[in-house]
Order: sequence, then C-alpha cells, then structure tokens
Amino acid sequence: MIVVSHRGPERFEATTSGGFTRHRGAGGVISALRPLLAGADAKWVAAAISTDDRAAVAAGAATSEDFDLHLLALDEDDHRLHYDVVSNAVLWFLHHGLFELPRRPAFDRHFAEAWDAYGRVNEAFAAEIAANAAEGETVLVQDYHLALVPAALAQRRPDLQVAFFQHTPHCGPNSIGVLPDRVATDLLASMARCAAGFHSPRWARAFEVCHEMVLGSAPAGGTFATPLGIDPDALTANADGAEVAAEAKNLDEAIGDRKAIVRVDRIEPSKNIVRGFRAYDLMLEEHPEWRERVVFVALVYPSREGLAEYLAYRQEVEQAAQRVNDRWATGDWQPVILDAHDTYPRSLAGLRRYDVLLVNPIRDGLNLVAKEGAFLNRHDGIVALSREAGAFDELGDAAVPVHPYDLTQTAEALHQSLAMEPAERHARATRLQELAAVHTSRDWLDDLVRRAEGVSAA
Ligand code: F6P
Repeated sequence: MIVVSHRGPERFEATTSGGFTRHRGAGGVISALRPLLAGADAKWVAAAISTDDRAAVAAGAATSEDFDLHLLALDEDDHRLHYDVVSNAVLWFLHHGLFELPRRPAFDRHFAEAWDAYGRVNEAFAAEIAANAAEGETVLVQDYHLALVPAALAQRRPDLQVAFFQHTPHCGPNSIGVLPDRVATDLLASMARCAAGFHSPRWARAFEVCHEMVLGSAPAGGTFATPLGIDPDALTANADGAEVAAEAKNLDEAIGDRKAIVRVDRIEPSKNIVRGFRAYDLMLEEHPEWRERVVFVALVYPSREGLAEYLAYRQEVEQAAQRVNDRWATGDWQPVILDAHDTYPRSLAGLRRYDVLLVNPIRDGLNLVAKEGAFLNRHDGIVALSREAGAFDELGDAAVPVHPYDLTQTAEALHQSLAMEPAERHARATRLQELAAVHTSRDWLDDLVRRAEGVSAA
C-alpha cells in the first residue's frame, strides 16, 4: 500500500555533527495514521517540509525504520505557493467558510502562478507514486494539498486502486463558485477520478452537489463518509504515561477546587477561539455565581505562522483572553489560563481533567480532540460541541450543542454544562465515552482500503 500526504510520518533535524535526528511528523493526520501503518510494510510519499528535511533528503538520510519513506524535495518556490497560497490561503479558507467575501479572495496573476505551482507539486507526487507502485497497488491520497493527484495518476497509472480522503469539510454549491472556473473544474474532476471520502456525510454530499453543479454529473468514482476514530489502546497508553501525570499535577494546582473549562486547539481561525473567550466572558456576566468558581484553561499552539492571517489571529486570541482576565480577575483568581506552547502531554492531561470541553469551531472536518477528550476524560466531563464539527454526527446525542456564531447560546451552553446535576453528567460522560470509541482509527483505515479497491462499506 502507498500512503500519500503533504506532511510525512517523519521529520528531520540537523545535528551539529553533520547528521540528522528523526522525529515524529507533525499534524493530526500523521498522529492518526502513523501508528496504524508503522511496520506494516507501507510506502509513504510526502513532502520535505523544512530546510532540515531537505538537507536530509540531499544527504540520503531521509529514511524511516517504520516505512519505505519517499520524501520529495520539491522546488522551493513551487512548494511555498502550493502550501501558503493555494492550500492554506484558498482551499482551507474555502472549505472552512473563512473568506471575508467583500474583500477576499481576489484572484490575480499571482494566484494563477500559484495554481500552476500547485499543479506541478501534485504532478511531482504522482510521478513519485507512479515510479514506485507495484501493478494494481492500493494508493491512499490524503487531503486538499493533493487534490490533483488522482487525475495525474489516472493518466500515468490507470492500473492503481486509488482513494482520496479529504480531512476538511467540503464547501457547498454557493461557495465553490468563488473559485476561478478552471480551478473548480480541475479540483472536482480530479477528486471524482477515484472514490472520494470525507469524515461526514454532510461533506460528501456537499462535494457531490458541487460536482453536479459545476460538471453536470454525479462524481464517477463515488463518494463515501467514514469518520476517523481514535486508537483506544494507544491513546490510553499515552495518557497513562509519567509525563501526563506530571502535567496533571500542575493543572490540578492551577485549577484548585474550581471547575475547569478546557480547550485544546491549534491557533487557527476556524477553531473560533476568540468567540469562545467572548462567550465565557458573557457567561461570567450573566451568571455571577460562576465568578471565582471556574477556570478556562486554553491549551493552544501556534500554526502556519508564515501567513499574516494566522499571526494576526494569534494576537486576537491573546487579547481576547487578556480582556477576560482584566475584567474579572480577583486577587486569587485568574479566569483564563492561556497556554500557547505545544505540549502533547499537557493536552492529554487537560482532556483527562476537564469539567467542560469547549469545541466550538466555525466548521471542522471532524475534530478528533472532541473524541479523544470524550474517551479520556475521568471527571464526568461534558463536551460542548459545535454542530458544525464532523464529530457532532457521532457525539451529538450526548454532547451539549454549540452554535458557533451565537455568543449568547454558547454562553448558555457553557453554563448549562457547568451546572448539570451529577447524575446527568455521569450519564452523558459515560455515553460520550462509548460513542467516541465506536469507530476506531483502524476501522477508518480498513474502510479507506476497501473503498480504494472498489468495495462498499463493510
Ligand atoms: O486537514 C487537517 C490537517 O491537515 C491536519 O492533518 C493538521 O492537523 C492540520 O490540517 C494542519 O495542517 P498543516 O499544519 O500541515 O498546515
């Protein structure tokens, strides 16, 4: 089997002695896929992301103990345009509904160049796959960075069994028309060259409707919805580790005997972190009984800081947290603890500890954190979950729904979750834990392989 993703399962760091150290690759898709495929004799094609990755490729050191790793040192300009401009500033914004339409996007000559670069990067991936795939091999292409790979493979290697899986939502018919015509046509036509998968039937349907509208037919490769799940054993083993225990102790000291609202997110506009703080502020205003009795622990970590929007959003997040603290803090109570360092053990400790987990994205393909939290929590915690997250399909029955744009509703959802009677909390938390483990990451991978091979759901 060949797995194809923009970020790879390994990243490399140059050492002062001229060698390289190998580390686990970053990002949600990698965390989920890596342990499933390690040692399974899989080939993995990915991009060299950093300067050190590129140097490792040049030195022949970009290898892995767990995979047959093919790291591509792409043309640097092409790669930047592919990642920053097309993947992040356009496709990510499109599918998450983040465009501010009166101002952006505006597709000019610069974008046309970036689109050509996106095509060349996708071609480079397809060429590497085509050169290394056995006859009829299964190829699993991950995400919107690589949406043109199915069409390129259909040209080069029609014998391959390909599935494409998009980890984000898919935009609807009103939004697809924002893209330049040739861009929309090429993307949709390529994804339809194979089975196209999504975390939620909502996104699969949106893709179908866009395809019908733009290309006048249903996608020939078919669509499927299969949500990524947790790996219960691996997650439990990680959360039971000594580092998490140490972080849990720190967290307990910071929270004391107060209730804890927790969030764990990349600093990312679609995660809606600023409205989360504003809703909390409103809750403290409307429900004075919570003042000094609750702490909002925001475990967030920087991302995509090459984009001005993300740097600006980080500032907004920090300012929004500060505003709440300036308004409500007392001598021995800090209402918001904002931690912007990327520490996985601390995140796991937060998921074990929360009384309320706030997951309020504007739109989210799935949101694995909601499932991880529901599964790991040991505090009869409630998940306050955006209806716009793919995970709502599975957890919605036991979660407290959040309307991501409605601050008043979100504030009430937080209040309701904090105020819930112990018996109801326990019943909901138990149900959330069951629901979070219904589909495992292994189920997801098995389904993806079956779809690539043209077999419908098990
Ligand atoms: O589609 C989701 C995803 O690709 C995840 O794998 C990852 O966590 C996130 O987007 C961030 O992506 P990146 O840092 O590679 O831009």
